[in-house]
Amino acid sequence: MCGIVGYIGNKQVVPILLDGLQKLEYRGYDSAGIAVLLDGKIERRRIEGKIAGLKEKMAKEPINGFMGIGHTRWATHGRPTEENAHPHIDCKNEIVLVHNGIIENYFTLRQELIELGHKFVSDTDTEVLAHLIEENNKSGNFLEAVVKSLKEAEGSYALAIVLDKTPDKLYAARLGSPLVIGIGEGEYYIASDVLAILNYTKKVIFLEDGEIAEVSKEGFHIYTIADLSRVNKKAQLITWDPITAEKSGYRHFMLKEIYEQPRVIEENIKGRLSKDKEEVYLDFPDLPDKELEGIKKVLIIACGTSYHAGLVGKFILEKILRISVEVDIGSEFRYRDPIIDKNTLLIAISQSGETADTIAAVKEAQKSNAKIISICNVLDSSITRLSHGVIYTHAGPEVGVASTKAFTAQLTALYLLALYLGKLRKSISKIELIELIDELLKLPKKVEAILENDKDIIKCSKTYFKYKNFLYLGRGINYPIALEGALKLKEISYLHAEGYPAGEMKHGPIALIDENMPIVAIVPHGQVYDKMVSNLREVQARQGVIVAVGYKNDEIVKEMSDYFFTIPETIDFLTPILTIIPLQLLAYHVALKLGVDIDQPRNLAKSVTVE
Ligand code: F6R
Repeated sequence: MCGIVGYIGNKQVVPILLDGLQKLEYRGYDSAGIAVLLDGKIERRRIEGKIAGLKEKMAKEPINGFMGIGHTRWATHGRPTEENAHPHIDCKNEIVLVHNGIIENYFTLRQELIELGHKFVSDTDTEVLAHLIEENNKSGNFLEAVVKSLKEAEGSYALAIVLDKTPDKLYAARLGSPLVIGIGEGEYYIASDVLAILNYTKKVIFLEDGEIAEVSKEGFHIYTIADLSRVNKKAQLITWDPITAEKSGYRHFMLKEIYEQPRVIEENIKGRLSKDKEEVYLDFPDLPDKELEGIKKVLIIACGTSYHAGLVGKFILEKILRISVEVDIGSEFRYRDPIIDKNTLLIAISQSGETADTIAAVKEAQKSNAKIISICNVLDSSITRLSHGVIYTHAGPEVGVASTKAFTAQLTALYLLALYLGKLRKSISKIELIELIDELLKLPKKVEAILENDKDIIKCSKTYFKYKNFLYLGRGINYPIALEGALKLKEISYLHAEGYPAGEMKHGPIALIDENMPIVAIVPHGQVYDKMVSNLREVQARQGVIVAVGYKNDEIVKEMSDYFFTIPETIDFLTPILTIIPLQLLAYHVALKLGVDIDQPRNLAKSVTVE
């Protein structure tokens, strides 16, 4: 969490920093600040709250300058006040820095520095770094001072640092938090995420963990933090279009991203299937077919919405591969002494590729020599680098904090992976493969049809936004969709919503049901349809209010429901990609009625890079 940005070049730096921060605001929006170096003097502006507030402050108290750094914060240590806002400075206002990550030994370092006479003005872990570098800079070689300090600091960081005495240089370092250098003409950018600099350049270098860069207008040098040896890296071209990072006329990014799903699903399928529908093309250069054929167990690791995609993945992979699949939440997996070995395939699912708990779990699995495939959206992100193979989800930048298009893209990737492995391991017949591919290809149009039919959903949101508690019920492959639907509602509307396997209702939650607790039921036809209908009868018998998602021609469920959202028919196995769409829209329209901040819900950040 937290977003950092930096610039050095011939342009006025403030608009570039503000623009970059605006793009990074999804990473945290508790406070914001920038620092600019001009005529050897560091000027800072900071505020509590969002970038809009910082823009206002900059308009009232402008600064000129051609190099500087900026930060948008998701508070970890210290309340979200102006004093705790980055950039942070040393005692003499000579060193200024912005930080994304956590300095775990900050308390000890802070005590030592206080004893040496340093004065602290914030409660943050980050301020320790400014004073530590100041302390170590007595030799006069700034790069060495920064490196020495980073070796003393424990934890994670992406840093951008400015020293008043070297106005021609900007320093950037990375350990555990992402950092990218953007290459322009006689100008360079630093950012947590390419989104921040996409308007200016698509040519980038991704810093690796343990690297530090010294950047000037003329170019940059990258060194290892371990021994300051030079590192040569090749620039990469980013294919994302800056327009996809804009709202394009939609009221919110979340809505735009919901409506992008037909295209995203299509792009994920396109190019990965042969015309005769007999082949799935996935490329895992470091995972020879022989190794994938020998897999005995699959373990899926993810957090939040990606975890819900993983739960659907269990159904998909077990059905096609007929091998056992476990699904774990990143933060749980690493502390439970899991049983994995070289015959385990670990699938890490992450939109950002930077979720700290998922990264830690992947590193844990590495120790047991598991084969690792990741399903990620962000190019060259940390998780992709830890993997033997990657399926990129090609969803484009997802800016809304609540994940929507990344989820359906992850589901699509899981279907493709299951079909690919199924063919390789001969657990699926040619006819089955063709049939499934045929249905998969029809999904984009079906999602489009649901999106065009949002009138009932809007009407329903107008009825139910006043309710405080919701129970989402699903069974089988749609049980994870109940969890995901409930998560969408709670995270953006702050209403209480629980996802539950419908069959479990009578073991406890049924006690909650009355006319004040809407039940959102996912009931497409399939293996568990009759069971779901029986569960809904139990709700009906207790005067429960029913909102259902099901097939158009389903008169039974329609008649039982207060609101009925229809989806086009598909095979049972593929329904989650369709059933989630009305639930995303329902959450969006309820939140809209409540007038809350849909794209940036309170207390959240898009990418959770701390444990
Ligand atoms: C919910 C949401 C989060 C993320 C979770 C994992 O809408 O976005 O629950 O899914 O933080 O993030 P990634 O997928 O980036 O690892």
